[in-house]
Amino acid sequence: MLITKTKTELRAAISSLKTEKSLGLVPTMGALHEGHASLVSKAVVENKSVVATIFVNPTQFDNQDDLKKYPNTLDDDISLLKSISENIIVFAPTASEVYSNEVKSASYDFDGLDQVMEGTYRDGHFEGVATIVETLFRLVEPTKAYFGEKDFQQLQIIRKVVQSKNISLQIVGCPIVREEHGLAMSSRNERLPKKVRHEAAFIYNILQKAKKKFGMKSATVVSDWVRQQFEKHPLFKLEYFAIANSDNLKEIKRKQPNVKYRAFIAVYANDIRLIDNVALN
Ligand code: PAF
Repeated sequence: MLITKTKTELRAAISSLKTEKSLGLVPTMGALHEGHASLVSKAVVENKSVVATIFVNPTQFDNQDDLKKYPNTLDDDISLLKSISENIIVFAPTASEVYSNEVKSASYDFDGLDQVMEGTYRDGHFEGVATIVETLFRLVEPTKAYFGEKDFQQLQIIRKVVQSKNISLQIVGCPIVREEHGLAMSSRNERLPKKVRHEAAFIYNILQKAKKKFGMKSATVVSDWVRQQFEKHPLFKLEYFAIANSDNLKEIKRKQPNVKYRAFIAVYANDIRLIDNVALN
């Protein structure tokens, strides 16, 4: 396994690949878990070569405390990647290598996709994400890049960046991987006390019940019901629940035929913020 730290090393590694162009990219912030492993495994199956990046991108953190607490588990991450394939090229740069002098996001027009849900609670987050993924796309020039549907809003925003900047690659969205009891896999789960982590199955249970109700009731009735369930729960504080059009992410009041909808949720467990979503139809 080749571990590169600088853009020059990474470019050299990519240009020495003797395969025809079939290069998968899996951008990550490290602290890898089974969710990441599923992205990397898919990339390994679908491409001749794979680059996995491990970089805790400072510009996407609106909360500096969150950035400071973000786990650094590089050795374990590399072992996990090795267990999937010895042929992966890892790019694990420093912030100054990526951003040179100015650790700053570029500006984007996401056509409103950033004006809802995560975007309303995390100032500048999506500009930070778009800046780093665009940088990586231009550096690696992959044929396909893999992202998890747990961050579904991020996935749609990345698709928008690729489309509006005319970047030639395919974005592959991959299904959410869940812990045995249903909690969506996240690096943050490690920070949950054992009991809270166990109880957090509640979040996915509510999403599944909401999905069932959505077949019969209006979006408003389902959303009110979800809010009531959280009001009664002693451990979890609901930040938002939204039923939205899967393509433009606009929250809906009334269902339309032939439109795909998803339910999105953000919840606090102590000071840990958890997000999840499910397709409703
Ligand atoms: O989803 C993530 O882990 C990050 O937002 C990403 C896409 C790797 C960009 O830093």
